[in-house]
Amino acid sequence: MVEDGGARPGDRVLDVGCGTGYLTWLMADTVTATGSALGVDPSPDVLAHARRRAAGRPNCTFEDGIAERLDAPEGTYDVVVTSLMVHHLPEEARERAAAEMFRVLRPGGRVLVADFRPPGNPAARHLVGAITGPVMETNPVHLIEPLVRGAGFTATTAGDLHPWIHYVTGTKP
Ligand SMILES: C[S@@+](CC[C@H](N)C(=O)[O-])C[C@H]1O[C@@H](n2cnc3c(N)ncnc32)[C@H](O)[C@@H]1O
Repeated sequence: MVEDGGARPGDRVLDVGCGTGYLTWLMADTVTATGSALGVDPSPDVLAHARRRAAGRPNCTFEDGIAERLDAPEGTYDVVVTSLMVHHLPEEARERAAAEMFRVLRPGGRVLVADFRPPGNPAARHLVGAITGPVMETNPVHLIEPLVRGAGFTATTAGDLHPWIHYVTGTKP
């Protein structure tokens, strides 16, 4: 995901729905001390954990925030990433979140949206559903690319990562 996000040293990166922040600090390492990575999440508990884990990385910070209303001016970031977050949003909030990611990126900036891809094997899929709930069993990851395109991103690419991640990248024209 870090590679597919396309961040470079010096970039400003936003991780939306960062959870415990593992992707945020990997992005912080990628952009080096001349860049920065900010993770936002509405859960104080995961933010506290993320801050502890990122101790010693001054370019990696965390803030309270929600995908549907990002607290940043237009064009602030070079790269926006979001991992395993979209399925948490009610369907009607997904377009709003994608529009916000578009807004806070600079022209030429890149987005990466990754989410859980249900296993192809029906038995494994059913097991996932039994353990995690029906959303994960049927998570419609094929709708991510149209969502990203609908927000205005171009040059989209999509792919699968082992074992169960589907991702889409796009560029803000
Ligand atoms: C499954 S976790 C994924 C965390 C992390 N991105 C990862 O890949 O491990 C989903 C996260 O999305 C956050 N979340 C839920 N609703 C959100 C919203 N409206 N805006 C931003 N984040 C949200 C949750 O608090 C949770 O930390």
